[in-house]
Amino acid sequence: MYCQFFVALFLSYYYCLTGFSAAAAIVPGNHTDKAALLQFMAGVTDDPFGVFQSWNNSNPFCDWTGISCRKQHPGRVIAIQLDSLSLSGAISTSISNLTFLQSLLLMNNSFSGSIPPDIGKLHRLQHLNLSRNSLTGVVPLSLTNCSELQTLGLYYNQLHGSIPSEIGSLMKLQELNFANNNLTGSMPSSLANISSLVKLNLLYNFIQGNIPENLGLFATNLSYLSLSGNELSGTIPPTLFNLSLIYLGFTVNQLHGSLPLDIGMTLPNLQTLLLSNNLFGGTLPASLANATGIRILDMSTNSIGGRVPPELGRLQDLVHLNLGSNKFQINDPDSWRLAKERMSIRDAASEMHAIREVYLKAGH
Ligand SMILES: *[C@@H]1O[C@H](CO)[C@@H](O)[C@H](O)[C@H]1NC(C)=O
Ligand SMILES: *[C@@H]1O[C@H](CO)[C@@H](O)[C@H](O)[C@H]1NC(C)=O
Ligand SMILES: *[C@@H]1O[C@H](CO)[C@@H](O)[C@H](O)[C@H]1NC(C)=O
Ligand SMILES: *[C@@H]1O[C@H](CO)[C@@H](O)[C@H](O)[C@H]1NC(C)=O
Ligand SMILES: *[C@@H]1O[C@H](CO)[C@@H](O)[C@H](O)[C@H]1NC(C)=O
Ligand SMILES: *[C@@H]1O[C@H](CO)[C@@H](O)[C@H](O)[C@H]1NC(C)=O
Ligand SMILES: *[C@@H]1O[C@H](CO)[C@@H](O)[C@H](O)[C@H]1NC(C)=O
Ligand SMILES: *[C@@H]1O[C@H](CO)[C@@H](O)[C@H](O)[C@H]1NC(C)=O
Ligand SMILES: *[C@@H]1O[C@H](CO)[C@@H](O)[C@H](O)[C@H]1NC(C)=O
Ligand SMILES: *[C@@H]1O[C@H](CO)[C@@H](O)[C@H](O)[C@H]1NC(C)=O
Ligand SMILES: *[C@@H]1O[C@H](CO)[C@@H](O)[C@H](O)[C@H]1NC(C)=O
Repeated sequence: MYCQFFVALFLSYYYCLTGFSAAAAIVPGNHTDKAALLQFMAGVTDDPFGVFQSWNNSNPFCDWTGISCRKQHPGRVIAIQLDSLSLSGAISTSISNLTFLQSLLLMNNSFSGSIPPDIGKLHRLQHLNLSRNSLTGVVPLSLTNCSELQTLGLYYNQLHGSIPSEIGSLMKLQELNFANNNLTGSMPSSLANISSLVKLNLLYNFIQGNIPENLGLFATNLSYLSLSGNELSGTIPPTLFNLSLIYLGFTVNQLHGSLPLDIGMTLPNLQTLLLSNNLFGGTLPASLANATGIRILDMSTNSIGGRVPPELGRLQDLVHLNLGSNKFQINDPDSWRLAKERMSIRDAASEMHAIREVYLKAGH
C-alpha cells in the first residue's frame, strides 16, 4: 500500500524497493513501463470519454483501461488498445520504452504530430494500427526494425514522404495499409520480398513509378492489392496474374499494357477487378468468364478494344460492369448479346440475374 503510494507521488520505484520490498526487484517493468504510460497520458490533451480516469495510482497500471500486461511478467505492458475514443494530442515518444509491447492500437482518434521516430525500439511489436488520426510527418525509417510486425495500419492520416525502401525487412508482415495519406516516391522494390503479405493497400496517395517487378512472386498468399488513386506508370507485373488474388485495384493511374488472355484461369478467385482511368489497351479476355466469383468489373476510360466477349454473360455474381469510354466494337448484333441478356433479366432466361449496373457508353 505504502509502496504504491510512493510510486504515485515520486515515480520512485527504487526508493520504494530499498524501503519496503526486495521481491519487486524481479520485475523491472514495474517502474519503466508505468513511467512510459504516464508520459503517454501526459501527451493526450483531450479525453472526452474519461478513459484516463482509471489511470490512477489506486489502480495497478496493468488494470488501466486499454492496457494489457504479460501474464508471465506482471508489470510488462504487451498491448495498448485505445481506439475510437476521440483522444487528441501527440503520441508520446515514451511509448518506445514499452519494450514488451506487441500491439499498439490507437486507430480512429485525433492524434496529431508525428509517429515517434524511435518506434523501431519496439522489437516485439506485432500489430501497429494508427489509422484514422491526424498524424503528419513521415513513416519513420526505424519502423522497418520492428521485424515481428504482422499488421501495419497507418491509413487516413496526412503522412508525407516516401515508403522506406527497407520495408521489405518486415518479413512477417501480412497486412500493410497506408491508404489515404500524402505519400510520394515510388513503391519500394523490397515489397516484392515480403512473402507473408496478404493485403497491400496504398490507395489514394501520390506514388509514382513502376509497380515493382516480381511483386507477388513470393507472396503466394496475396489476396488483396489496391494501388488505385496514385500516379503509377508502366505495366502490371506478370507475377500478379499468378495468385489467389480476390481484389485487384488499379483505378486512376497511368498504367498501360493489356490483360493476359488467360487471366480468368490464372486468377480463379478474383471478385473485383478495377482498371478504370488508365491507358490500358488490348482486348477484354473471354477467360474472365472462368473466374466465376467476379462481382465487380470496371474497365472504363481506357483504350480496350475488340468485342465484348458474350461469355461474360455467364458470370452469375456480377453486379457491377463498367466498360464505358473504351474502344469496344459493338457494331454487329452478336456483340450486343451481353447487353441483351442484361435487358432480358426480367424474362428469367438470363444467366446474369445478379447484375444491377451495366455501362456500355460509346467509346472514342
Ligand atoms: C525512456 O527511456 C530512456 C532511456 O532509455 C529514459 O531516458 C527516459 O527517461 C525514459 N522515458 C520514460 C518516460 O520512461
Ligand atoms: C481510479 O480508477 C478506479 C478504477 O477505474 C476508479 O474506480 C476510481 O474512481 C479512480 N480514482 C480516481 C481518484 O479517479
Ligand atoms: C510490481 O511487481 C510486483 C512483484 O512482482 C507485482 O506483484 C505487482 O503486481 C507489480 N505491480 C504492477 C502495477 O504491475
Ligand atoms: C470512430 O470513433 C467514433 C467514436 O469516437 C465512433 O462513433 C465511430 O463509429 C468510429 N469509426 C470507426 C470507423 O471505427
Ligand atoms: C535498427 O536496429 C539496429 C540494431 O538495433 C540499429 O543499429 C539501427 O540504427 C536501427 N535502425 C533504425 C533506422 O532505427
Ligand atoms: C486497423 O484497425 C481497424 C479497426 O479495428 C481494422 O479494421 C483494420 O483491419 C486494422 N488495420 C490494420 C492494417 O491493422
Ligand atoms: C495532403 O494532400 C491533400 C490533397 O492534395 C492536401 O489538401 C493536404 O493539404 C495535404 N496534407 C499535407 C499535410 O500535406
Ligand atoms: C530481397 O531479399 C534477398 C534475399 O534476402 C536480398 O538479396 C535482396 O536484396 C532483397 N531485395 C530487395 C529489393 O530488398
Ligand atoms: C500462407 O498461408 C498459409 C495458411 O494461413 C500459411 O500456412 C503459410 O505459411 C502462408 N505462406 C506464407 C508464404 O506466408
Ligand atoms: C505462374 O506460376 C506457374 C506455376 O507456379 C509458373 O510456371 C509460371 O512461371 C508463373 N508465371 C509467372 C508470370 O510468374
Ligand atoms: C474455361 O475453362 C474451360 C476449361 O476448364 C475451357 O474449356 C474454356 O475454354 C474456358 N473458357 C474461357 C472463356 O476461357
